[in-house]
Amino acid sequence: LNILSVTSECVPLIKTGGLADVAGALPKAMVPLGHRMRVLMPAYPGLAARLEDAREVWKEDALFGGPARVLAGTVDGVEFLLLDAAHLFDRNGGPYLSPEGYDWPDNPERFAALCWAAAQIAQSGLSDGWMPDVLHAHDWQAGLAPAYLRFVGNKRVKTLMTIHNIAFQGLAPPERLASLRLPPSAFHADDLEYYGQISTLKAGLVHADAITTVSPTYAAELMRPEFGMGLEGLIAARAGDLHGILNGIDLEMWNPETCANPYSAKTLKKKAAASSALRDRFGLTQTDGPLAIVVSRLTGQKGLDLLPGLLPDFIAHGGSLAVLGSGDAGLEAAYSGLANEYPGKIGVHIGYDEELSHAMFAGGDAVLIPSRFEPCGLTQLYGLRFGTLPVVAATGGLADTVIHANDAALDRGVATGLTFHPTDATAFAHCLRRLCTLFADRQAWTKMMQNAMQQPVGWDKSSARYAALYQDLIG
Ligand code: ADP
Ligand code: GLC
Repeated sequence: LNILSVTSECVPLIKTGGLADVAGALPKAMVPLGHRMRVLMPAYPGLAARLEDAREVWKEDALFGGPARVLAGTVDGVEFLLLDAAHLFDRNGGPYLSPEGYDWPDNPERFAALCWAAAQIAQSGLSDGWMPDVLHAHDWQAGLAPAYLRFVGNKRVKTLMTIHNIAFQGLAPPERLASLRLPPSAFHADDLEYYGQISTLKAGLVHADAITTVSPTYAAELMRPEFGMGLEGLIAARAGDLHGILNGIDLEMWNPETCANPYSAKTLKKKAAASSALRDRFGLTQTDGPLAIVVSRLTGQKGLDLLPGLLPDFIAHGGSLAVLGSGDAGLEAAYSGLANEYPGKIGVHIGYDEELSHAMFAGGDAVLIPSRFEPCGLTQLYGLRFGTLPVVAATGGLADTVIHANDAALDRGVATGLTFHPTDATAFAHCLRRLCTLFADRQAWTKMMQNAMQQPVGWDKSSARYAALYQDLIG
C-alpha cells in the first residue's frame, strides 16, 4: 500500500515532542511490511536543503495566499514531501510559536494549507506518478485533511485520524470558516463545531474512516469526561472505529550497548560508569540511594508541579535528582531554585538537549513520570530499554507499559517499575518512598532492571497493527 502520512513535525527534521518520533518511526517500520509511507510536512526554514535528491512533485499557485510546491526527497531513510510555501512557513521561530513564544496568529490557516495540499495529493497523486491508498492524519494540525476529502465526496482514498494528544484541538473562531475553505454548513455540533469554535481535530474525528490513539488505556479514557476534553461523546459514538495502538521506540537510537558508557542486561555493573558520568555532569554527589531523572516538557499534563514539594523527603531517604526540561516559566523557576537550595542533591538543566537526554537514561536509576494524563509517553519506554526503572502515574500508555512492583509481580519476577494512582502528591510521595526501599534491595532491583531491559519496546507489534488497519480500511 501507499500511505500518505500528514504531520506537523517528524524526526529527523524537526521535533517538539513524541509526535515527531512516532511520525519518523512509522515509515521505516512499514518498509519490511511491504508498504510505502511518505511524510507530508511543512518546509520550515532550512529543511528543504536537507533533502537528498530533492525534486518538485506538486504545485499550486495560490495556496492560502501564496504560491506553494511540494519537494520530495529522503532524509536518513525517511521519504519526505515538504510543503514549501514561504508565506506560511518561512519564518523564524518554532513550528507553532513565534520567537516571543506566542502561537502564530495564522496557525489555523498554516495547517489548513497543509491539509488542503494533502487532500489534493490524495485525490490526484503526485507528478512522479505516486498515488496514496490511505491518508494517515496526525493530531489537530492534520485534522482538516479527512474533512476536505469528505466535502469533495472523495471515495478513492481511505482516511485514518490519530490522536496523539486530545488536549490540543486546533480551535479557531467561526469567522475563519471562509479563510479555512470550510463550508458554513459544516459548522454544527455533529460536525466540526466545538463550543462555538471551529475544531480541526474534531473535523478529523468526525470525517476520518477510522480513528486511532497511541495506547489502549488512553483509547478507553478518551470516552470519559475527565480525559475526553469535551469530545468524549463523539469518541464514544465512534468506539467501533477506534483503536488503541501503542507507540514503540527506535531501538537503534535508544540503545544502552552503543551509548558513551555502554552496558547491557548481562553487564549491568557497567551502568555504574554511566551513572557516575551523569552525577558529574549535574554536580551530584555519590549516594547509596537512587538517582532519579526527569526528561520532560514542564507542563501541567506531566504533573511535575507535584514533585518539588516531595523532594526534601526523597533526599532525606537518600535520593538524588537530575532534571532536563523546559516549558512553564513557573516550573522552570521552581526547579532552578531547588537546584540552588540542594546543591549536590538536585541538578537542573533548563532547555532541550537530545544528547544529554541519552546520557540521563543511561546513567539514571529511575525515571519519574507523574503525568495527569499521558496518551502513550515515550520516556518510560526509554527507561525500560536502559534499565532506568519507570516510576509512573497509572494512566494512558504509562499504565499499559509498566508492570508495577506489587508483591505478586515481584514474586513472579515480572515487575519492571512502579506505578501510582491517582496522580496526586499523596500517592506520588508514597511511591517515591517505595522506590527508595526497593532500590536498597539490590537483588529485587537488579531483577527488575533485567525484566525491564527484556521487555519489547520496539515497533514490531504496533507497526503490524497499523498495517493491518490500513489493509482493513482498503477492504
Ligand atoms: P510528549 O510528546 O507529550 O512531550 P513523549 O514522552 O511522547 O511526551 O515524548 C517526549 C519526547 O521529547 C521524548 O523523546 C523525550 O525524550 C523528549 N524530550 C522532552 N523534553 C526534552 C528535553 N528537555 N530535552 C531533550 N528531549 C526532551
Ligand atoms: C503526545 C502525547 C504523548 C505521546 C506522543 C506520541 O505528545 O502527549 O503521550 O507519546 O504524543 O504519540
